[in-house]
Amino acid sequence: MDIRVSKDPLRSLDGDLLAVFAFAQPEPLGRAAAAVDAALGGAISELGRAGDWSGKAEETSLLYTRGALGVRRVLVVGLGARSAFGLEALRVAAAASAKVARKLRLTSYYAALPPADGLAYDDMAQAVVEGALLGAYTFTRHKTDDASAGPALRGLTVVCRPEEACAVAAGAERGRIIGEAVTMARDLANEPANYLTPTLLAEQAEEIANACGLRHEVLEEADMAELGMGALLGVAQGSDEPAKFIILEHNADRADLDTYVVVGKGITFDSGGISLKPSDGMEWMKDDMSGAAVTLGVMQAVAALGLPLHVVGLMPATENLPGGRAYKPGDVLKAMNGLTIEVVSTDAEGRVILADALAYAARFAPKAVVDLATLTGACVIALGHVASGLLASDDALAGQLLESSARTGEKLWRLPLFDDYAEQIKSDVADVRNTGGRPAGTITGALFLQRFAEGYPWAHLDIAGTAKVDSDRGYVLKGATGHGVRLLVDWLRSRAG
Ligand code: BES
Ligand code: MN
Ligand code: ZN
Repeated sequence: MDIRVSKDPLRSLDGDLLAVFAFAQPEPLGRAAAAVDAALGGAISELGRAGDWSGKAEETSLLYTRGALGVRRVLVVGLGARSAFGLEALRVAAAASAKVARKLRLTSYYAALPPADGLAYDDMAQAVVEGALLGAYTFTRHKTDDASAGPALRGLTVVCRPEEACAVAAGAERGRIIGEAVTMARDLANEPANYLTPTLLAEQAEEIANACGLRHEVLEEADMAELGMGALLGVAQGSDEPAKFIILEHNADRADLDTYVVVGKGITFDSGGISLKPSDGMEWMKDDMSGAAVTLGVMQAVAALGLPLHVVGLMPATENLPGGRAYKPGDVLKAMNGLTIEVVSTDAEGRVILADALAYAARFAPKAVVDLATLTGACVIALGHVASGLLASDDALAGQLLESSARTGEKLWRLPLFDDYAEQIKSDVADVRNTGGRPAGTITGALFLQRFAEGYPWAHLDIAGTAKVDSDRGYVLKGATGHGVRLLVDWLRSRAG
């Protein structure tokens, strides 16, 4: 999307639509909304007085300027109660404005920043751009009749005062980079599995790497065998599609920088394998590579932002299918760190492929490793589609992630890694078993991963519930969400200081 900043007076803007934001009534209008109100002879105030618009979150009202302003329409967008105002309210309001612009079949519009109310202008601009980009998202590439969806939104101009323009330009650019990274992650996770095999995912990763100057490497199955990645290879046995281990690096040649590793589960389709899933809803197991999609989004964003950190993205990718050579319940696999795994369910495949990826991460001597995975149905039961599970071996790292969560609105809730639960994944025949029964399934999944996440502070995000939603919620639209990109980019920005 073409993101611009204008410091021109509101009267001189020329176009189809100007969005102005306002708090829930009876708060007075902010500067931009008040200026528009005056130009329109009090039309916005009248909306409030008549009770036709109350300013609650996502409530919009459309006015026609009929020559009183250069723009043809003004959209008044509710920010909700002033007491609850923050960047999240602004993202939600910006998404509401983008949805109206799309419904009007516009390809671009203006949005005037609301009163800062204690927020920084760069953060506000970032929030507006992110909200608009994410709220305007569509996934129509497989529809042959694209016309019904209307044209894509191609441009947004953030309007501010001259003295704010510098900060606003920086924030808007950040918002564009991050919003586009989330969009890319959504696209990948929405993509059907026949259009996104591990091979095609690796090709996408290469394209992204080339476009933004990341180091790129793909380990083939022969390489994995040499490294002793028996866990990833075990899961891959059931599919005719070759597994790929995708590695992207930002600032790969900078030994002076701190290293952070992001690991994403890349199961491009999860049938459950021999422990076959019920067919109801199985079509959504195409998004079981959401962790990898988010990792790719994070890598794209950190490269575009030029963060002064060495960031590594690891994406083990395979299908989980019940082919004739598929791994079976009872099989024992040996991971790269030498630990043996008793396979109790072939449907607990995510933790198995992550075992090798987490072991591989140790070779970078990282300051911290964060993995993202659509790991457990239990997490969907516990936290629904609202918050991701956070499980961490390190309290400082958990605290940093919770701070980023608060700033970005990508909710996390921490669950414990008490040793007591480890009883459930003890095996009679191997070092560890890949399931721990129904109780505390998210915790036993994470405790399994912890056996392989040795030698660095580590956190695990279970995004099983948040990677995909069934209905719109503000700027989080039905379908794949890209949940985790904004969170981890914020976290890495905070690490870069
Ligand atoms: N990809 C699934 C988890 C999942 C379930 C994600 C529902 C999104 C929605 C994962 O591979 C899986 O099948 N986990 C099993 C683990 C169990 C066998 C220990 C689960 O949660 O049932
Ligand atoms: Mn599974
Ligand atoms: Zn899975």
